[in-house]
Amino acid sequence: MARLAALLSLLATATLVRSLIVPAPRSNAFPRDDDDNDTPLPLIIWHGLGDNYQADGLAAVAKLADDINPGTLVYLIHIEDDAGADRTATFLGNLTEQIDKVCSDLASHPILSTAPAVDALGFSQGGQFLRGYIERCNFPPVRSLVTMGSQHNGISEFQSCGDGDWLCKGWQGLLRSNTWSSLVQNRLVPAQYFRDPNPDEYARYLESSNFLADVNNERAEKNVKYKNNMEKLEKFVMYIFEDDVTVVPKESGWFAEVNGTEVTMLRDRDLYKEDWLGLKTLDKKGALEFKSTPGGHMNLLQTLLEDVFTGYYGPYGRKFSTFGAENSLQQEL
Ligand SMILES: *[C@@H]1O[C@H](CO)[C@@H](O)[C@H](O)[C@H]1NC(C)=O
Ligand SMILES: *[C@@H]1O[C@H](CO)[C@@H](O)[C@H](O)[C@H]1NC(C)=O
Repeated sequence: MARLAALLSLLATATLVRSLIVPAPRSNAFPRDDDDNDTPLPLIIWHGLGDNYQADGLAAVAKLADDINPGTLVYLIHIEDDAGADRTATFLGNLTEQIDKVCSDLASHPILSTAPAVDALGFSQGGQFLRGYIERCNFPPVRSLVTMGSQHNGISEFQSCGDGDWLCKGWQGLLRSNTWSSLVQNRLVPAQYFRDPNPDEYARYLESSNFLADVNNERAEKNVKYKNNMEKLEKFVMYIFEDDVTVVPKESGWFAEVNGTEVTMLRDRDLYKEDWLGLKTLDKKGALEFKSTPGGHMNLLQTLLEDVFTGYYGPYGRKFSTFGAENSLQQEL
């Protein structure tokens, strides 16, 4: 386990991704059925901003998934085969095209495309992008979607850049000054999930957002396919990091809206009450879970990953415990 901890901690080398791994004994928070003895579903993982699919930390996560559910095929989603280019694509690109590419990669993958379903894990922005995949194509279909520190309701502030991160600094000026221009919406990834609920900004978001306003079904015309596809999930589990200061607001990870200091939880929002995305439907069947975990952004405790792999992934025919559903009442931050 010491080696695993060392590998996981390499996730911290990625810009904006911090990780402190505390090895601990395997937890038994989610007891499994005894008859879950067939092959686990494949797992697809979408990494975050500033990371790349060949990072050692991701390989360690994949290894842990296989340790817990032996025989798991793990597919690390990537936009480019070259690791450096894949990292660049976390900052630069048009999300419509990126999601289309992932849809076609997965649909043509020899094993994934024949699986009855897959499980999915999204780190940070990878979480809302996986939701985009589910809503727009969902072939192969996702069974359990787990997101960690994601920006489901967007960000209202852009993250600051690390010293010497030229790529980040290069886009930041343009991003801040020109969020809604089609150049920025077509090229800069974080701008495509920028969302400020104050009325003037919100109108511009509805008009110009290239990604989030669409996948959140916020425009007047609702895409019923998005809702139908989301309702097929057996689990949608959203983790936020309790001391996250990288994602502003961190409550975005629970699909909450933050207006100044006022937090409107998902269940009090029209998006939920009018069920634009099937989230209410998922909630009523006990499939929607709001979870939190200690520490700052992407503080990936090994026990956290173990709980997720044990609780939500594994064989196709497994039954999910209702532990999570009972525990899904929104918690105080
Ligand atoms: C992003 O790409 C799609 C598909 O190519 C295109 O239709 C859309 O206009 C692009 N978005 C922007 C803001 O240019
Ligand atoms: C919060 O929402 C209220 C009512 O919609 C609005 O009047 C107010 O300007 C908003 N406050 C901020 C800080 O955006």
